[in-house]
Amino acid sequence: MDASAPLPAPAAEAASGRALMIRNLRKEYRPGVPVLRDVSLTVEGRGMTAIIGPSGTGKSTLIRCINRLVDPTSGEILFQGQDLAKLGGKKLRHARRRIGMVFQEYNLVERLSVIENVLCGRLGYLPVWRAWLRKFPSADIERAFQLLDAVGLGDFATIRADQLSGGQRQRVGIARALMQEPDLILADEPTSSLDPKTSVEIMELIAQRAGERDIPVIVNIHNVELGRRFADRMIGMSRGDIVFDGPTGRRGSARSPLSPMSSTPRPSLTSPGRASSPGSSMAAASYRGCFRPISRRTSFSFSIWAWRRACRSPFWRLCSAR
Ligand SMILES: Nc1ncnc2c1ncn2[C@@H]1O[C@H](COP(=O)(O)OP(=O)(O)O)[C@@H](O)[C@H]1O
Ligand SMILES: [Mg+2]
Repeated sequence: MDASAPLPAPAAEAASGRALMIRNLRKEYRPGVPVLRDVSLTVEGRGMTAIIGPSGTGKSTLIRCINRLVDPTSGEILFQGQDLAKLGGKKLRHARRRIGMVFQEYNLVERLSVIENVLCGRLGYLPVWRAWLRKFPSADIERAFQLLDAVGLGDFATIRADQLSGGQRQRVGIARALMQEPDLILADEPTSSLDPKTSVEIMELIAQRAGERDIPVIVNIHNVELGRRFADRMIGMSRGDIVFDGPTGRRGSARSPLSPMSSTPRPSLTSPGRASSPGSSMAAASYRGCFRPISRRTSFSFSIWAWRRACRSPFWRLCSAR
């Protein structure tokens, strides 16, 4: 990763590790009206931190400042030896690709297949022309299949994203975030569009996959019970300030064996592209096989249209330099 402007010595020392340090972070959408009021916070290099608080209190703004979907007004966001708040262009793109983001409304490209949506997680690593031509490296395709298996959607690779249920879409969103090989996962209300049972499964999945990678997760969540169940630390926000910060008393259990996920495919959905569940390379080979017919079947204009949709999504903005 590129080096950024030099940091003050103590900050550089602390920020060179895996922790995320936020210092005096302030955001004003309108001048003089702060949504975040000099928030300071250190998130350790592992475990799940849940942020709770009433609607409109600045939770999403905080998350979006970290990955710079929103530009902070002032303050520092120190991560891996860089101040994310001050990065731009290529350096910002390089920093962002190590920060996975799981959105409340999934932010999938509905008209692309599940596997292509997962592969979108590599967009920050690829030249744009490769993405437009869908020329993903074989290793990426294999990994995308492995991740789809890992999130319980191995049989859904060639199905269009708009045919999935909410829970399945969020699983794709998680696989896409993991496809980035992130060092930090941010999740903004990942369960608020889901029913209670699916919400538990999604939180379980995020905790499990982040635990396996041993990376920290910051999750905005309005369901305090869910937060308590899965997070190691709970931060309460009110009117742009942190008003509570403490352990949930469940440290260590995030990485304990979890109950099996119920990833039962919906009976109405079949996997047209593949007959059997993918191992990895066989699945990738079969994807390459089914990819050509898909390309032929779909017109060039469809491809342009789908990617134009992709380009307008917040996820694309995360992958692109500016
Ligand atoms: N893009 C924006 N432009 C102007 N105001 C915004 C924007 N995004 C959020 N806000 C305002 O900032 C405040 C905090 O919003 P948000 O961070 O979404 O809160 P939360 O996630 O806690 O519900 C709200 O008053 C909201 O209206
Ligand atoms: Mg929000």
